[in-house]
Amino acid sequence: MSIVNPHIDALKRLFEGHLAVQVARRYGGAEAEVQRYVLNNGGKHVRPLLCLLTAEAVGGDVTPALGAATALELVHTYSLVHDDLPCMDDDDTRRGKATAHKAFSEAQALLAGDALLTDAFALLAGSGSDAEEQLLASSRRLAMIRELARAAGSEGMVLGQYLDLHWTSRKGAGLAELNRIHRHKTGDLLGASAAMGAIAGGAPADIVDHCRRFGQLLGIAFQVLDDVLDESAATGKSPGKDRQAGKLTYLALMSPEEARAEAAAYTRQAIESVQGLKSSRTLIDFILSLLGRTH
Ligand code: IPE
Ligand code: IPE
Ligand code: MG
Ligand code: MG
Ligand code: MG
Repeated sequence: MSIVNPHIDALKRLFEGHLAVQVARRYGGAEAEVQRYVLNNGGKHVRPLLCLLTAEAVGGDVTPALGAATALELVHTYSLVHDDLPCMDDDDTRRGKATAHKAFSEAQALLAGDALLTDAFALLAGSGSDAEEQLLASSRRLAMIRELARAAGSEGMVLGQYLDLHWTSRKGAGLAELNRIHRHKTGDLLGASAAMGAIAGGAPADIVDHCRRFGQLLGIAFQVLDDVLDESAATGKSPGKDRQAGKLTYLALMSPEEARAEAAAYTRQAIESVQGLKSSRTLIDFILSLLGRTH
């Protein structure tokens, strides 16, 4: 199913314009060539869009959420650069191009990932001089930093990546272990994306918590579909790589049709949970578009 919503396209263009300015400003020099390469490499920008759309869904404006959206894309991009390294998934292709360590070197890819992760927090903390920063009270910045740190760190994405590696080529795991991996390696960052959007949009704490849970559900649906799409050439990654590596994924436990039904069930739960927000229509279109994606 393909969802057409001009407002989502407009927000995508807005974010991509903002990101281009940030990349030029922060990563213009020769020493930041790897950061430029990976950030200008055509990602879908799912996490930034989720952040901006959630800011709107809680009744806020997108402009104060643009910094958070950029920070989320930096953390996500770092996670892909490190995920592709030989000591992790050992992938040569990402988004139809050479992975960072193939195009440059392992050391450069490692450093670029370190830089992106660190710079994301610097960006959220603010330089103290930008006019745009005046839009966000420091208490909200702090709440966002806390949100992103929790989602990315030892209790979040890093835990998910640890568990993913732990269960690679190892017997004894089932759906419970797999869901724990997916919830942390992907669900937590999408949870933070929605929560940070809600914070930027001025939502009270209970709504922020609600949005975090919604984003986690959406993140699980997103990762289940990522598992299914691993067999497809349309992703710009190496098809069938999970199977060859002995990864614990949805396709290791069930048929593609059953896995798609699981993704649809998580998506339905995500939609139900946003229906009570102030204006959820565009957000629901976005959620549906993720279920219909082919890459
Ligand atoms: C890929 O994420 C890794 C997962 C967590 C599933 P995306 O599918 O969002 O990757 P890009 O940024 O669009 O390439
Ligand atoms: C990666 O999951 C999740 C991250 C935290 C990066 P995958 O290993 O399935 O992501 P792809 O398929 O390489 O994009
Ligand atoms: Mg991986
Ligand atoms: Mg991978
Ligand atoms: Mg994958």
